Amino acid sequence: MKTRLTKLLNIDLPILQGAMAWISESQLVSAVSNAGGAGVIATGGRDASWLDDEIRKTRELTNKPFGVNIVVLDSTNEEMVDLVCREKISFVTFGAGNPVPHIKKLKEYGIKVLPVVPNLKLAKRVEEAGADAVILEGMEAGGHIGHIATMAHMTNVIPNISIPVIIAGGIADGRGIAAALLMGAEGVQIGSRFLLAEECQIHNNYKNRIIEAQDTDSVITGYSTGHGVRGLKNTFSDEYIKNEFSGASADELHKIAMGTYKKAVVEGDIENGFVIVGQSVVPLNRIQSSKDIVDELIQETKDTLKNAVKFL
Ligand SMILES: Cc1cc2nc3c(=O)[nH]c(=O)nc-3n(C[C@H](O)[C@H](O)[C@H](O)COP(=O)(O)O)c2cc1C
Repeated sequence: MKTRLTKLLNIDLPILQGAMAWISESQLVSAVSNAGGAGVIATGGRDASWLDDEIRKTRELTNKPFGVNIVVLDSTNEEMVDLVCREKISFVTFGAGNPVPHIKKLKEYGIKVLPVVPNLKLAKRVEEAGADAVILEGMEAGGHIGHIATMAHMTNVIPNISIPVIIAGGIADGRGIAAALLMGAEGVQIGSRFLLAEECQIHNNYKNRIIEAQDTDSVITGYSTGHGVRGLKNTFSDEYIKNEFSGASADELHKIAMGTYKKAVVEGDIENGFVIVGQSVVPLNRIQSSKDIVDELIQETKDTLKNAVKFL
């Protein structure tokens, strides 16, 4: 399936595995790349020597293109940029912060730059600064979220940007991919669905909690402070949201949330840790290999697109 994104990154299918801090590491990344999409190593909370190691491990597992996600607000961002340049990584996605100061250097090294941006104004700004594509993530997504939904992003941004637009947030099956392509997106970024990949190294309790989740279980912590994080309702989220709406300070809220993501991912404490996942949870009902996930997504996309012709 060819789009401007597949041509840009030299991949077979227009699917990026969204970076997931402490989760998207060599095994998942290489599995998605081997399946024809592109995996992305998440560097949030890590240092450059960890990334160096992870790039090496990923290259042992795949010879296909993969990317690295750099969190601009992390103090390590300069070192991470230097490292991906040295290693000639295929592409970089940027989250949290202004990526513009890094674009020129990455492009000099032939590295494709795909910033994650929260609105049309910033999409235009990174386009002017030389980004190769932009990723727009709707607030249906798991993890840190903005205020604009995926459909609104597609409606607002795609007709007004010349570089390829990749859409993320709430896409969990091929119908979602087909919808994004029909809206003019050149590809999608998916995080939550890959949490149930066999190659995804999270605690089994985390995976099982997602499998059991209902559409009404999704909550956002910290939305009122401008730092919304989407995950599943539990003892932690109840406590956080109770404090959030009874006037707790940013410091107090920070203390309540500290370490809760790792508690769920690594220790499997799905009550006191935060099970971060997007809003489209109903199709996330079984563990599959990354290859089966990607194959199924693409088959559904093709079936949906073929079926759409009947409306003409
Ligand atoms: C558990 C989890 C952790 C995430 N961590 C990051 C991250 O470190 N950096 C980033 O840019 N995006 C992060 N995201 C967002 C994903 O890269 C992706 O854009 C998002 O998951 C897409 O929406 P979906 O969850 O509905 O598939 C995270 C998402 C999840 C679910």
